[in-house]
Amino acid sequence: MSRTIDWDGDAVVIVDQCALPTTYRTLRLATIDELVDAIKRLAVRGAPALGAAGALGVAMSARLHLGTADTTEVTGTTRATDAVGADAERLANARPTAVNLRWGVERALAALPRGAEAVTAAALAMLTEDERINKQASRNAADLVLRHCSRRPLRLLTHCNTGRLAAVDWGTALGVVRQLHAAGQVEYVLADETRPLLQGSRLTAWELEQEAVPYRLLPDSAAAAAMSMGMVDCVVVGADRVAANGDVANKIGTYALAVAAARHHIPFFVVAPQSTVDLSLPDGSHIVLEQRPAEEVTHVDGRRVAPEGARVFNPAFDVTPAELVTAVVTERGVLQVTS
Ligand code: MRU
Repeated sequence: MSRTIDWDGDAVVIVDQCALPTTYRTLRLATIDELVDAIKRLAVRGAPALGAAGALGVAMSARLHLGTADTTEVTGTTRATDAVGADAERLANARPTAVNLRWGVERALAALPRGAEAVTAAALAMLTEDERINKQASRNAADLVLRHCSRRPLRLLTHCNTGRLAAVDWGTALGVVRQLHAAGQVEYVLADETRPLLQGSRLTAWELEQEAVPYRLLPDSAAAAAMSMGMVDCVVVGADRVAANGDVANKIGTYALAVAAARHHIPFFVVAPQSTVDLSLPDGSHIVLEQRPAEEVTHVDGRRVAPEGARVFNPAFDVTPAELVTAVVTERGVLQVTS
């Protein structure tokens, strides 16, 4: 598998996550409209991958508006830099919850005074950095899991998709699974299907197949039962934004998992790059939670399964309070341990 998101010299290339698991294909996105649309449709998704998408989007915009002439002077007209700024805002606002998207946009924008080539170089450096950082965060978390959980081999439960497909490469929580599996420490992974868009069954199961990690898919609603039956040693998830007090926004259903894990005294680990931590927000109540279209709930595979006129509550994310999180682990180490 190639990188989830990359640059071909002129355009952004992504693995099309809407087509998996039946079809593995890449999409070439040559305009900001195409990239914003891909972000909104979740063809590219997952917090670290969104950071890369934001940065590459700014690089593409800078090249389109400023050209790529080599210059060390301030490049382009005010109108051109304004146009890049407008594209950057559209990209950063394409999805509101994962802080990495705006973080990626802003890091790339910081290079704009040095010209489009400098923006491109900054974005490409972020892609390389992403893999290194997530590997380090996974190693840190794998060590912590092994220290916390005595049973061998381990039975881990995860939610959504936090693997290579959610990052440039490698992944976060699923990166931990890969680390532990390589060390022969995994009996199986329980992968929540992750309603309504099925990132668990479509993407995580696909990745676990690729890596030959033993796994079982389960409906999200079966996770608490699996815990009560003694089938889970720990829960490992990713994050879209971590507030300064350690509250964690992640895929809808994460909070319910944390409540159930606490009920059963099962450690609950969050693994994310430091770029997911947003110290500007004192706690999770300030995190904007994306609301998704009603059709994601009223329809399955394009077929209506709810009555006409059914009203829907479809938040893409929820907030897990810090008190339910055993540890948030980044590439720098353990951010916070509450138990
Ligand atoms: O809506 P998605 O699929 O972008 O949501 C992704 C998640 O919630 C992931 O758990 C999170 O981004 C961490 S990815 C390493």
